[in-house]
Order: sequence, then C-alpha cells, then structure tokens
Amino acid sequence: MNQKNVLVLFGGCSPEHDISMASATKVIQHMDSYKIIPVCITREGKWMLYDGKLDNLKNIDWEKFGTPAVLSPDRVNRGLLRIVGDKVKIIPIDAVFPILHGENGEDGSIQGLCQLAGIPYVGCGVMTSAVCMDKAMTKLVAQSLRIPQAEYLIFKDGQLEDLEAVTKSVRYKIGYPCFVKPSNTGSSVGIAKAKNKKELRAALESAMAFSNKIIVERGIVGREFECAILGAGDQIETAGPGEVIPDGEFYDYDAKYLKAGSKTVVQADLPEETAALIRQYSADIFRAVDGRGLARADFFVDEGGRVVFNEINTLPGFTSISLYMMMWEAAGISPTELIGRLIEMAGY
Ligand SMILES: Nc1ncnc2c1ncn2[C@@H]1O[C@H](COP(=O)(O)OP(=O)(O)O)[C@@H](O)[C@H]1O
Ligand SMILES: [Mg+2]
Repeated sequence: MNQKNVLVLFGGCSPEHDISMASATKVIQHMDSYKIIPVCITREGKWMLYDGKLDNLKNIDWEKFGTPAVLSPDRVNRGLLRIVGDKVKIIPIDAVFPILHGENGEDGSIQGLCQLAGIPYVGCGVMTSAVCMDKAMTKLVAQSLRIPQAEYLIFKDGQLEDLEAVTKSVRYKIGYPCFVKPSNTGSSVGIAKAKNKKELRAALESAMAFSNKIIVERGIVGREFECAILGAGDQIETAGPGEVIPDGEFYDYDAKYLKAGSKTVVQADLPEETAALIRQYSADIFRAVDGRGLARADFFVDEGGRVVFNEINTLPGFTSISLYMMMWEAAGISPTELIGRLIEMAGY
C-alpha cells in the first residue's frame, strides 16, 4: 500500500507552543500507517523539518538539526519546499495535520495556507477555526442557538481606554466574581478571576496585553465538563462528557499543565439527561459553525444542575492528560483509529 505523506505541523508562534509540542508528540505515536513529515514552527516562526527519530519533539534542537522547509501556496507544487543552500526540493504532501494551538494555528491562518496550496488538512476549515478561536464570535453563535451561557459583556478598542466606565458596567451588569478573558487566547493564557474592582482592573490590564477585545463574564459556581466531537455535516458523533477538576481556584494554565493535583474523569458522573444535553449542545454548535473533523466543547454545570456552555476548541489538546483522545478510547475508538479517521476526513 502506498503510504500517505502527512505533514505534521507543530510548535508555532503562540503562547501555546509547548502544549503543541506535547500534543504532536502524542499524535505521532499513533500514526504508524502514515509517512510522517514533521515540521516544527519555532517560537520565532521558522519552519524546520527534521529527518531523525521522533521520540520527544521537545528535546530536539530544531534550529540546529532541522532543515528549513516551507509549505508552498502554489497549487502546482502541492508540497513542502525543502531548502538546502540555494537548492529547493519539493516533498509531495497528501495531507497536513496542523497540531497547533491558539493564535496562528487554531484560528484559520494555517488552514488558509493549506487551502491556497490545495492540500487537504485535518480539522476545521478557515471560517470555523476563526469563529471558534474568537470567544466573542462563538458566544454569538451559541446565543443564536439559545444555548445557555454565563452573562457576559464585550469591551473593545476605545472602550478599554476608560477602565472606570468598564468596571462600572461590570459591577452593574455582571457582578463579582467575574472572569476576564482576551477574546483570542487558549490554555487560559491571559485569563483571570476578579473578586473586586481592584482585581478587575488588574485582570483587564493583563488581558489587554493579548487582545483589544476583552470578555468579562459572570463566574459560574459548579463543575466543569468537556465533550469530544468527531465528524462533519450529518455525521457528527460525540463522546463524553468527561470532567476536569482543577487543582486551584479555576482551570488556569498551571492547573492544566503543571500542577499534579488537577484531575480528569473520562466518564463524568452526571445524570444521563444532563450528559445527553451536553452532547446535544456540542453537536448543535459544531454543526452551526460548519465544523469538520474534530473539536472539543466545554461546559459548566452550575449548582442548580443547569448546563452552561463555555467554549469550543477546534484543535483540542492531545497531551497525555488531555481528555479528547481518552473520551474516544472509552467510547471504543482507539487513538490509532481516531487519528486515521481524522486524516481520512481531511479536506480543503
Ligand atoms: N464564567 C466562568 N465561570 C467560572 N469559571 C470560568 C468561567 N470562565 C472561565 N472559567 C475558568 O477558566 C478556565 C479557562 O477559561 P476558558 O474560557 O475555557 O479559556 P481557554 O480558551 O483559555 O481554555 C476554564 O477552564 C474555567 O476553569
Ligand atoms: Mg477552555
């Protein structure tokens, strides 16, 4: 059988660079039936191809041992241009698997490049990626579907110059505690919980370093769940929900990736109708945004048992503690089958 050449892209110029390295390390372990072409996008944005062993991507010195290689947007090339000195060699690519989280990877930009190149890529398309990466846009979609969400306000551009006015409207319309989020980050980067005006101001200031569009939403007291999504169009499947139990006040970056005390439960202990509602909302949102391939939708269940949508991630984590792969495994789809299905679903 002719093996498909799959360009696996990871790293990236986003604060989630390290998470991407960990995710890609895991995904690659389940790609035995494909020829892997690994390219790391360094923090500075250099594209580096590596020909050696791929045990732990993070331990490779990409700058030193990699060879510059870029994806050509030229549809005639349909491949990766490997640059050695003044010579260029084209490596044909059958599919791209972008395992990049956050800005410049999960937001439609890489997807747009693959589309220009005419090379099928794994996961959601340009529009879907862009809408799901922007939390404010996602909220509009969920609202139009009448899916419950935390009360929220969006502040952008000039509005953020008057923090006094911002804190005033938060106090009246949202109250404390509230969560402050840049509209376009992931992995909890730039997100803070504020319990009073002073904390709110500090949270706004730090969120503004990441975006000129900030969301402030009411703090939900309850539990946190994740639902795995696979498929497209009329064939959308869901798995889970699983539960995340952060070590700390909320699921911030440290609680997600650094603290040993955070826990995940692959099959959440929830009343069946609540679990079914989470799966239904997940499929509804994925369908509304024209999702393809994969996504993970995140929810809260508040103290009254109400399901509250939080966000949808089109390139969920694949690290060893990430629930996406585990939820499918619990549903009877092995990681190898899952990765294979995602690659076969690639499109542009
Ligand atoms: N409205 C909220 N109420 C309670 N906790 C929240 C709220 N919004 C976010 N959080 C906490 O912050 C974490 C990160 O927020 P989230 O919107 O999921 O951003 P990210 O895209 O960075 O994962 C969540 O996993 C949750 O623990
Ligand atoms: Mg999240």
